[in-house]
Amino acid sequence: MDKKIAVLAGDGIGPEITTQAVLALKKVADKFGHEFEFEESPIGYVAHVKKGQALPQDTIEACRNSDAILLGAIGDPRADKLPPAQQPERAALLPLRKIFDFYANIRPAKVFPALADASPLKKEIIGDGLDLVIVRELTGDVYFGKKDMDEQDTWRSDLMKYSRPEVDRIARKAFEIAKTRPRKKVTSVDKANVLYTSTLWREVVTKVHNDYPGIELEHYYVDNAAMQLIKNPKQFDVIVTGNLFGDILSDESSMITGSLGMLPSASLGEGTFGLYEPIHGSAPKYTGLDVANPIATILSAAMLLKYSFGMEKEAGAIDSAVEAAIANYRTKDIFTEGKKLVGTSEMGKVISKLI
Ligand code: IPM
Ligand code: MG
Repeated sequence: MDKKIAVLAGDGIGPEITTQAVLALKKVADKFGHEFEFEESPIGYVAHVKKGQALPQDTIEACRNSDAILLGAIGDPRADKLPPAQQPERAALLPLRKIFDFYANIRPAKVFPALADASPLKKEIIGDGLDLVIVRELTGDVYFGKKDMDEQDTWRSDLMKYSRPEVDRIARKAFEIAKTRPRKKVTSVDKANVLYTSTLWREVVTKVHNDYPGIELEHYYVDNAAMQLIKNPKQFDVIVTGNLFGDILSDESSMITGSLGMLPSASLGEGTFGLYEPIHGSAPKYTGLDVANPIATILSAAMLLKYSFGMEKEAGAIDSAVEAAIANYRTKDIFTEGKKLVGTSEMGKVISKLI
């Protein structure tokens, strides 16, 4: 099967980690007899410098002509001097998500048994693992609401807004994902005791739930959800929430797993086309030092195989290789005594070899 992958390495550690994910994908292609074509395009501050735009038109076209997008990371401290509208997060990442209507951001938070020690939570809370998935709405909410300020710039505002169809489709995604999981439970997170948008959110999620009789649904306020994630994270199976709450809760869940460097994500629209990226940022201070953990990006490549190419076996081969690798090899962020400390590229090589 011939598939085309747009590779957007981006800023900071982006190029180092995507190189390792591409290596893993090439190994999968070899091993399973697939043909993957990779096309690299600039995005982020590097693109701003090179092309005058953080998301150049050519990059959008390259994505449009591909079957899936693999993204490293975006962001550079030098961009802080730019006007807000030109900063890479606002000028590249958010438009990329919006242009392709990638409204469903899937962020699995899984504690690998081998890494249970790396979790900041006590052993009796984390047990021998954790396996939850956050389904974050990605193209609405206060992220994309009307921005405003008065003439004297004495105030600025961002409008928080959700429409019924927007909530409907993300709720369906969450229930569909819950169907594939053993516990079949969805926790919808909102702030319906205060926010008007959240009352609509809750109403629509409850209504959509009628179409999924086999799935359990519960509602949590976001403050309580943040607390419960620390107190008893194993109660969660699928969490569905809006863009802003999902941004925050997914960072919290990632830390429970021990490292931000382990969590992949998939951003999907209606079809199989998707955007795959680690949930962490560009980590500018680690750029070029060969210390960043490439696993989140490698696991994102596995999600790409599964969701965009329907290659479950191949995705499983990457997941197992990661698990086997961390039994003996660790990057700095997940290092413990008795394991071999390796850099970004060696970790990538070890994983590829194990595929
Ligand atoms: C994420 C990031 C982005 C977001 C930033 C970089 C704009 O934090 O993907 O979680 O807030 O969505
Ligand atoms: Mg975030």
